[in-house]
Amino acid sequence: MRTQVGIIGGGPSGLLLSQLLHLRGIETVVLEKHSREYVLGRIRAGVLEHSFAALMREAQVGERMDREGQIHEGFFIAHDGIKERVDLRALTGGKTVLVYGQTELTRDLYDARDRFGGVVIHGAEDVRPHAIDTSRPYLTYRVGADVERIDCDYVVGCDGFHGVSRQSIPNDKIRLLERVYPFGWLGVLSRTKPVSPELIYAAHERGFALCSLRSPSLSRYYIQVPVTDSVDDWSDEQFFDELHRRLPDEVATAMITGTSIEKSIAPLRSLVVEPMRFGNLFLAGDAAHIVPPTGARGLNTAASDIYYLYHALVDHYSKRDDRGLESYSERALARVWKGQRFSWWMTMLLHQFPDNSPYENRLQKTELDYLFSSEKALASLAENYVGLPF
Ligand code: FAD
Ligand code: PHB
Repeated sequence: MRTQVGIIGGGPSGLLLSQLLHLRGIETVVLEKHSREYVLGRIRAGVLEHSFAALMREAQVGERMDREGQIHEGFFIAHDGIKERVDLRALTGGKTVLVYGQTELTRDLYDARDRFGGVVIHGAEDVRPHAIDTSRPYLTYRVGADVERIDCDYVVGCDGFHGVSRQSIPNDKIRLLERVYPFGWLGVLSRTKPVSPELIYAAHERGFALCSLRSPSLSRYYIQVPVTDSVDDWSDEQFFDELHRRLPDEVATAMITGTSIEKSIAPLRSLVVEPMRFGNLFLAGDAAHIVPPTGARGLNTAASDIYYLYHALVDHYSKRDDRGLESYSERALARVWKGQRFSWWMTMLLHQFPDNSPYENRLQKTELDYLFSSEKALASLAENYVGLPF
């Protein structure tokens, strides 16, 4: 088989790129290791920035998102028994975020690829990029006993943190900058009315907690847990008891608890790969960078990679102009690092760090005091949360 752009990974990054390129007459094939049901079973992002939503509309997949997504004009930070509001709209001159689950967004992208006749191959095992440092790269993959080959002009690695793309680049050609945190987020999805119509991020001496949602009848809650914990260590009752302890009384008493319909632990990690290109292999999304979920940046940063790469590929095919491809890594990384900085800052602000000294704990408290005493500090938080410009 031959295509113009071979995409590894059928998560949101790969599907969005495929859909955008299709609309500009550029052929793609998406190779996804897992089944569609498996991909749609992973509960991840919930908060989309304005520019991400705009890109979904440009890809002609924004209709259900605009109908069912909820515009959020602010969120709360709870600490010391109180909750204080961050008014995103007022602090950013009118900007907001959209609460729409990654599962739904991925479903919309799959539906669109089907509708437009896109090629998405599920169950592609042993995907491998070859000859990526030449002008004739190709991909191989296995379905059962059969090995298939796809020749292409470019390979785009959208295969997430555990993917094969990044690992295909020789070690001496890339640099990995990384920070691993000693805790994870235990998340529970429950078919109950969310405790608050707006998100509540809570800093507490027992650890961080987050009250989020997917719809008026679907809650998503998280608590910070040691990285050594496993899901089996936490019954639903223990989870909600611990969540209650970390929230102000007025929130805890108003919460409706229920049975979990999904429960998982996400370890917290920051990682950046530099550069995001080797020869004719380009990396995008979680394949190139990971952030702790605290600032809701991961998927949103993937969207900016896709935006730059999409325009670069369109310029290549329509105008033979390769400046966008040449500068892709540098442009993408400039925004990636701002997302890293913000996610690190939000994580430091709100979590308990087991090795912190009393001095560092005091500084953390002072950071919160400062935040809510300075309009400028709050405006900086809000500007980053709604998303910096592409
Ligand atoms: P992925 O979603 O990881 O997709 C990669 C795809 O590649 C997968 O389908 C995988 O099966 C496939 N694949 C992997 N290896 C191979 C291979 N060898 N061959 C073929 N296919 C392969 N971000 C936000 O912006 N806002 C949020 O509110 C937010 N909340 C989050 C909450 C949690 C608990 C977590 C864990 C993450 C959150 N994120 C959030 C981050 C966000 O989910 C990720 O950044 C996003 O999934 C990245 O999309 P992606 O397509 O680049 O990678
Ligand atoms: C979520 O709803 O899953 C979510 C929301 C905000 C975050 C992280 C996760 O910062």
